[in-house]
Amino acid sequence: MARLTFLGHAAFRVEGGGLDGLIDPFLTGNSMTPFSPEDFKDVNFIFVTHGHGDHLGDTPAIAKRTGATVVATVEMCDVLKGVKCHPLQIGGAFTFPFGRVKMTPAWHGSGVQGGEGEGMAYGGVAGGFLLEVDGRRIYHAGDTGLTVEMGLLAEDGVDVALLPIGGNYTMDIDDAVRAVRMIKPRVAVPMHYNTFPLIKASPEEFASKASGLAEIRILKPGEILEV
Ligand code: NI
Ligand code: MN
Repeated sequence: MARLTFLGHAAFRVEGGGLDGLIDPFLTGNSMTPFSPEDFKDVNFIFVTHGHGDHLGDTPAIAKRTGATVVATVEMCDVLKGVKCHPLQIGGAFTFPFGRVKMTPAWHGSGVQGGEGEGMAYGGVAGGFLLEVDGRRIYHAGDTGLTVEMGLLAEDGVDVALLPIGGNYTMDIDDAVRAVRMIKPRVAVPMHYNTFPLIKASPEEFASKASGLAEIRILKPGEILEV
């Protein structure tokens, strides 16, 4: 069994099979989260979909404090100095002690904001993750527009799909509904909405439009979903 905790925005904690992991731990400055980076003491893995501040977030600080291994693209690993990093690349997978992790494509950027130099550091391409945790399959789409590649996930038997619905930078509600139709997950959870004015969206509208395609679970920050 895997246990997912919604941390607000696109951030999740995922536990099971020896994994105490964080996905895109944007906590400092995240108006939607009741958590702070110090709440996570025993994290052993951090999965980073791309370099934008609302995803990379507190990763460097948490990884340095806990010794957690960051899983990200080769380019992101190169930018993240001083942390343990397992480099992956889109379409590649590695089997960790808790299960297999595959990086999936995303139509998005991955510049790393707030670095030392001028402008953004090159963070490679943006991605998502298909995480196998204690036999359960969790797909975190990252920030992305709708991609035809999502259809390939239908063969993977996704238990939970975490999908952005906020529009502007990512899929909006209607494209997220199309994503559910393509991925065919057992459960779909909306994310990446209402944190900023530009990504205002109604998760209830998503739930009603996607009903019948999957079980839709709207999680409040701090709420746990066991799969
Ligand atoms: Ni982004
Ligand atoms: Mn984002």
